[in-house]
Amino acid sequence: MENKAIYIETYGCQMNVNDSEVVAAIMQQAGYGMASELAAADVVFVNTCSIRENAEQRVWGRLEVFRQQKRRNPALLVGVLGCMAERLKEELLEKGIVDIVAGPDAYRDLPRLTAQAGLGQKAINVLLSREETYADISPVRMDKNGVTAFVSIMRGCNNMCTYCVVPYTRGGERSREPATIVREVQELFERGYREVTLLGQNVDSYAWADVKEPAKVVNFARLLELVALVSPQLRVRFATSHPKDMSNGVLYTMAMYPNICDHIHLPVQSGSTRILTLMNRKYTREEYLARVAKIREIIPGCAISTDIIAGFCSETLEDHEATLSLMREVGFDQAFMFQYSERPNTKAARHFKDDVPPEEKTRRLNEIIALHNTLSLKSNEQEVGQVREVLVEGVSKRSAEELFGRTPQNKVVVFPKNNCDIGTYVNVKIIRCSSATLIGEFMHR
Ligand code: SAH
Ligand code: SF4
Ligand code: F3S
Repeated sequence: MENKAIYIETYGCQMNVNDSEVVAAIMQQAGYGMASELAAADVVFVNTCSIRENAEQRVWGRLEVFRQQKRRNPALLVGVLGCMAERLKEELLEKGIVDIVAGPDAYRDLPRLTAQAGLGQKAINVLLSREETYADISPVRMDKNGVTAFVSIMRGCNNMCTYCVVPYTRGGERSREPATIVREVQELFERGYREVTLLGQNVDSYAWADVKEPAKVVNFARLLELVALVSPQLRVRFATSHPKDMSNGVLYTMAMYPNICDHIHLPVQSGSTRILTLMNRKYTREEYLARVAKIREIIPGCAISTDIIAGFCSETLEDHEATLSLMREVGFDQAFMFQYSERPNTKAARHFKDDVPPEEKTRRLNEIIALHNTLSLKSNEQEVGQVREVLVEGVSKRSAEELFGRTPQNKVVVFPKNNCDIGTYVNVKIIRCSSATLIGEFMHR
């Protein structure tokens, strides 16, 4: 009999992208092949996100498409994985079309669940674990560029920000053994990868104590150093840093190793201390700004990106203005901006009123986006005339005659091909920019 083929679709954050690679590895080991399109699949897995309501809406839309595909191929099995699987559990099976439900800590069980579903029995495993980190599994890279890869260093989250579903969908925080992380990074480097991004919801609380040497704790600064030491030819990035936990030790390590990219993703969420308290972020506006000042003192020229939520419960115009003024003060290089979306069973949903009207949330968000666009254009304009080291990641979407890559500060640069190879470093002089992209000309390798 021919191998059954799985097709995986991924929504949500970088961690989900990496999890899908773990799922591919587990399924391949169990004898499944990978289908390159839905029409060729015997099993379709959709790895889902619950962070905002629209993220879930998108998945419901996809499930409709799978329902139609099932009419064409009645043997097709549909599996819902990830955060929505964990949040909705059996409810998903009641929708008829779903055969398999697996939460983020249950992926090792997928071959069994799939076999059970193949026998016509709906299958579910949404147990969360206190230990699972998939440490021993080598993810099957599906990114295809062969240059940049995500490496999960921890799972779950303990922070309980009042608006957030992640602690419920991903469970408690746990760190992955450093030796397995370094080994995975080494293997990637040997296979030609030139950039890794270390992933965790709060990388600064990474901690690993060996049973044999419990006093010698590997913290995030040390882990970063271990990964940077794999090769000076390997770029190292990481996300996400939590403003309450980001230590100077991490900053000094970044300053010490030129291959650790000068970029920190430091989500602020709001510029108002009152709102930050309601969000349970555990820092004030002033403390956030002090972290930013410290970053700029220790790593001059370090790019800072952020996440912002508009219209959280009880947010006044004054609070909103505080967010805008903080944005001006920091001048973020990049920002991910969202309207507050109430998530069932979070503390905010249970205790606070979602009282900013939807039109007003949208208005505030648009104001935040417009300000960010002017600020990021300004930040990009400062790049014009500079020569930056760019890791070539692929051919530009705009033209086959152009390549694209990123600067250490995570800014995307498009530049003429000039016989450069994907996966190499080139020096590019920035000659023009928009608020989203830099345009460069090739200098030398
Ligand atoms: N661990 C990261 C964030 C993970 S979620 C951190 O603590 O910063 C990514 C972003 O989604 C968050 O930073 C936040 O800005 C946004 N987000 C999370 N829950 C949200 C909600 N209920 N409504 C709108 N945006 C939300
Ligand atoms: Fe969610 Fe807060 Fe954890 Fe980030 S730190 S994943 S926002 S609970
Ligand atoms: Fe979404 Fe889960 Fe990531 S809710 S943002 S996929 S951790």
